[in-house]
Amino acid sequence: MKIGILTAGGDCPGINAAIRGVGKTAILEYGMEVIGISSGFLGLINQEYTKLDEGQLSGILTLGGTILGTSRENPFKKGSPFNAIDKPKLIKKHYRELGLDALVCIGGNGTQRTAANLAEEGLNVIGIPKTIDNDVYGTDVTFGFDSALWIATEAIDRLHSTANSHKRIMVIEVMGHHAGWLALYSGMASGGDVILLPEIKFDVSYVAKYLKKRAVNKKPYSIVVVAEGIEKPKNESAARYIGRNILELTGLETRETILGYIQRGGSPSPMDRVLATRYGAYAVELIAQKKFGEMVSLKGNTVTSVPLTEVGGQLRLVPMDHSLIEKARKMDVCFGTEAC
Ligand code: F6P
Repeated sequence: MKIGILTAGGDCPGINAAIRGVGKTAILEYGMEVIGISSGFLGLINQEYTKLDEGQLSGILTLGGTILGTSRENPFKKGSPFNAIDKPKLIKKHYRELGLDALVCIGGNGTQRTAANLAEEGLNVIGIPKTIDNDVYGTDVTFGFDSALWIATEAIDRLHSTANSHKRIMVIEVMGHHAGWLALYSGMASGGDVILLPEIKFDVSYVAKYLKKRAVNKKPYSIVVVAEGIEKPKNESAARYIGRNILELTGLETRETILGYIQRGGSPSPMDRVLATRYGAYAVELIAQKKFGEMVSLKGNTVTSVPLTEVGGQLRLVPMDHSLIEKARKMDVCFGTEAC
C-alpha cells in the first residue's frame, strides 16, 4: 500500500513522534510506501510531496515542530467568487494521481473536520488528534497537551518566586481559545490561587474580593492563571484585562505575563512521545485493516478509534462538574464565581 501523511493546524510538541510512529510501522511492519505531504492540505493542492524512507524518520522523535511543515489551509472554506478553485476536487485528483491508498491527517479540531469531509468525498482517511489545547472531541487526551502543561507549570513556578519576593499579584495567560484544560491543569499543578476558564462565567469583582481577603489574611502575593479564551473586550489580551481590573479594584501591585507560543515549541515530554507513537502505530493498523474514516483516540489507557463523522465540528470542553474543579473549590481556589 502507499500512504500519505500530512500535519495541519497549529503545531505542538509530539507531531514528529507521530510521523515517526506512522512511518516506521508502515515501512517496517507492513512494507508500505510513505509519502510526506508538505504544509497540511496546501501540499495536496500544490502537489508538494516527498517520499519518506526509514532514514528520514530517524532522529525526529525528540524534535519539536513538524518536519512536514503545517498550515491552516481549509480546502472546504468557501473562497471569493473570483478565486473559485475547487480545492476538494484538486485534492481528490492529486490523491488519485499519487496513487494513495490512504491519507493520515494529524491535526486538531479543524483538521479532523476537513478529514471527515474528505472521507465523505470518498478518500480513505485516518485522523490523529493533536493540540496543546486538549479540546478534540472523541478522545480523552491529545498529544501536545502534556508537554505544554510542563512548560506552563515550570513558567508559573518561576513567577511564583518573583511574586513572593515583591509581594505582587501575578497574572499568567496560558493558551486555550475555547477550552480551559491547560489553565485548569497548569493552575492546579503550580498552586494557582485564581483560575479563570472560558467555560466558567466569572465576575472580576469576585476575583478582586478574594484577592483582598488573601492580602488581609497575610497572604500578600497571589497567582492568577487565565486562559486566553475567557470573556473579555476584543482589544485587550486576557492577562491585560484581568490585570488591569485587579489593579483598579484592589490597588494591589499587579504584573502580567503572556506565555504565548513558548507553550507550543520544543521537545515533547516523554508522555507525549509515547502517546504520539502509539497513535501513529495504531493509525497504520487501521489502514492495514482497511478501517477508514476513523480518528485514533485514547479511552482510559486504551488506544482505539472513533468515526470521524462523530468528531468533526465538536469541541471537548472542561465540564462544569469536573472533579478537579470540585477538589480545587474545597481548597479555596477561586474560579471567579460568587462561590469562588
Ligand atoms: O494550538 C492551539 C492554539 O494554541 C490556540 O490555543 C491558539 O489560540 C491558537 O492555537 C493560535 O495559533 P495560531 O496563531 O498559530 O493560529
